[in-house]
Amino acid sequence: MQIISCVDYADMSRKAARIIAAQVQLKPHSALGLATGSTPIGTYKELIRFHLNEELDFSKVITVNLDEYYGLSPEHEQSYRYFMQHNFFDHINISPENTHVPDGLTRDVAKTCAEYDSIVASLGGTDIQLLGIGDNGHIAFNEPHTYFFAQTHLVDLNEETIKANARFFESEVEVPRQAITMGMRSILSAKRILLLASGSKKAEAIAQMINGPIDPQLPASILQVHPNVMVIADEEALALA
Ligand code: F6R
Repeated sequence: MQIISCVDYADMSRKAARIIAAQVQLKPHSALGLATGSTPIGTYKELIRFHLNEELDFSKVITVNLDEYYGLSPEHEQSYRYFMQHNFFDHINISPENTHVPDGLTRDVAKTCAEYDSIVASLGGTDIQLLGIGDNGHIAFNEPHTYFFAQTHLVDLNEETIKANARFFESEVEVPRQAITMGMRSILSAKRILLLASGSKKAEAIAQMINGPIDPQLPASILQVHPNVMVIADEEALALA
């Protein structure tokens, strides 16, 4: 794993955005694996800035998001589709049909998951997979005790994650209890992985991911087997590593 230490969130966001921008410039039809959450928002802002000020062209880019809450419609303000539109897609020249987020309203979960895996497989894996990390070491919605070789699947969210995500909802009872998530197998098929982390709440998980054993208790630890992982994190997140 390559570790890039940043002074703060803004520095982390700039460094991540520069790498993604370079990828898109070198290969205009890049496949980008994208994440939601608070961590990548600054990166998306920088990429929007590159698009507006430096004509970074997303017209041929294909995106595949990691996950979606099960039961939320794309119009729900806390759905990950809404998040992506609002924080990124609506501000760049990406073709809507090139953006993929799992369907949170599907009635046939198995079919939706299989189709999602086919999209990732048809791309030969994403060129860059952007990741955040949960305080408990989760990646996408692959929670502790995860099965490392799973593909896209429906998961029950654990109490820690429901509590952590309650900040985005009016109350904790409104947080969906399930999500459709890419599995570790789909994530590891990426050619390059950029994991972002900011703040002291992530320090324990980051230290274990880098220095601990590969253990399903800390899902991010499986990234140690991937040949091309860059961890872009600020000093607070790297404090225990
Ligand atoms: C989001 C996702 C999650 C987040 C993680 C960290 O698509 O898959 O795993 O990356 O929960 O969230 P933040 O960035 O809000 O700390």
